[in-house]
Amino acid sequence: MPKMLSNIGFKFMCWSFKIFKKKDKILKILKEANIKPGDVILDYGCGPGNFSIPAAQIVGDKGIVYAADMHPLSAQYVLKNTQKASVTNVETLLTSCKTGLNENSVDVVLLFDVFHYFKEIKPIFTELHRVLKPSGNIALEIHHMDENKAINSITETNMFNVREKKEHLVILQKTTK
Ligand SMILES: C[S@@+](CC[C@H](N)C(=O)[O-])C[C@H]1O[C@@H](n2cnc3c(N)ncnc32)[C@H](O)[C@@H]1O
Repeated sequence: MPKMLSNIGFKFMCWSFKIFKKKDKILKILKEANIKPGDVILDYGCGPGNFSIPAAQIVGDKGIVYAADMHPLSAQYVLKNTQKASVTNVETLLTSCKTGLNENSVDVVLLFDVFHYFKEIKPIFTELHRVLKPSGNIALEIHHMDENKAINSITETNMFNVREKKEHLVILQKTTK
């Protein structure tokens, strides 16, 4: 099990997100991720779900957002926030790697502000590669580390390459062999 925040640390993080993660910026970033109505989204390392809930509103009734996090408090926050927003198409997953989702089932993985937590990236990217549709993408947002270093370590797995760099996100696609 990778190192996890204490409950107090997690609560503090959620409180700080409430203040610093502004709605208009969240929507701008989700727009860059190019998610569409009907999409299946995996918000991996979702925290309290600041992105999961607006993503669920974008994908609508025909789509779904899987909000995955290794911290047990995450689901409580996500559920509280879905209820507040009257959103019913978010499912929480407690995991530090395996999601249990079907292979080739996800349109977009949101990997926001979580990459720097990963000690071993291969198992996680193997899982993301498994669940993504052939046309699927990872929308990657890097914080707290050098972006190029992060991208190189991902492309070295030979599972993904960079499709596009945007203002806030790097869009990764599955490598075709
Ligand atoms: C800094 S928060 C980012 C939350 C959210 N993605 C955002 O941008 O608002 C990182 C989250 O990733 C989770 N996390 C870290 N490593 C993980 C792993 N291996 N599997 C699942 N969740 C993980 C942490 O518990 C934490 O909630």
